[in-house]
Amino acid sequence: MPNVLVTGSNRGIGLEWCRQYAEAGWRVFATCRFPDAAHDLVELAARRPQVSLHYLNVVLPESLEQLRAELQDEAIDVLVNNAGVYFEKNVRPERLDYDTWMQTLEVNTFGPMRVAEALIEQVARSERRLILNMSSHMGSIAGIEVPGDYYYRTSKAALNAAMRGLSLGLKERGIGVLLLHPGWVQTRMGGPGAPVAAADSVAGMRSLAERFGMEMSGRFFRYDGSEIPW
Ligand SMILES: NC(=O)c1ccc[n+]([C@@H]2O[C@H](COP(=O)([O-])OP(=O)(O)OC[C@H]3O[C@@H](n4cnc5c(N)ncnc54)[C@H](OP(=O)(O)O)[C@@H]3O)[C@@H](O)[C@H]2O)c1
Repeated sequence: MPNVLVTGSNRGIGLEWCRQYAEAGWRVFATCRFPDAAHDLVELAARRPQVSLHYLNVVLPESLEQLRAELQDEAIDVLVNNAGVYFEKNVRPERLDYDTWMQTLEVNTFGPMRVAEALIEQVARSERRLILNMSSHMGSIAGIEVPGDYYYRTSKAALNAAMRGLSLGLKERGIGVLLLHPGWVQTRMGGPGAPVAAADSVAGMRSLAERFGMEMSGRFFRYDGSEIPW
C-alpha cells in the first residue's frame, strides 16, 4: 500500500486527508504541532494501526530535521502540504500588522517549501512521487476583485509561484506538484456556514491525485477538477 504524509493533520481538511487515506488502507504519517493533544488523530490511529502520529511545526527547521531523520528510510508517495493559517478576520486594511503578515508567510509559503525540501528524497524514492499543496482561490491574482486579505492572498499567491517553479525543477526526477483549492470548506478556518464538507472536498482532491499525470504538474485546480487562472 502507498504512503501519505499530511501536515496540520489534527483537524479540518488535514484530518480528513488522514481519515480517507486510512480508510483506503494507506500507511499514513499524520503530522501536527501537538500530537499528544490530537484526540481525533489518536482515535483514528487506535482504529487504523497503519496511522502513526509525528510532531511537526512547519515553521521550525529543527522540527523538520527531526521528522526527516525519523522517516529517513521511508518512502512518501503523496506529500500533502496542508497546514495553513488565516489571521485576517477583523483586520482593517489601514491597520496592517507586518508581524502577522510575516507569520502568515512563514506558515503558508515558507512552510510547504521547507517541508518539500526536507522530505524530497522520501518522495523521490516512492512510486507515485506527488506533492499536493493546499492553496486557495484567494491566491489567484486574476481573481482579486475586492480589497483586503493582503496577508493570506499574498501567502497563497507566493506559494503558487514557488511551487510552480519547483514543479519545473522536479520534472526530470518524475516528481509531480499540484496547487489545489479545496473549496470553501466547513472547518475552523472556513467557518460553520461554508458550503463544502471536508469529506467532499478531500474526496474531490483525492480523485484528482488518482488521475494525476505529469502534464498536470505545476498547475492550479479546484477540488472539483476545474482549473483556476493564476
Ligand atoms: N477551509 C477553507 O475554506 C479553505 C479554503 C481554501 C484553502 N484552505 C487551506 O486548506 C488548508 C487547511 O485548512 P483548514 O480549513 O483545515 O484550516 P484549519 O481548520 O484552521 O486547520 C489548520 C491546520 O493547520 C495547522 N497549522 C497551523 N500552523 C501550523 C504550523 N506552524 N505547523 C504545523 N501545522 C500548523 C493547524 O494546527 P493547530 O491545530 O496546531 O493550530 C491545523 O491543523 C490551509 O492551508 C488553508 O489555507 C482552506
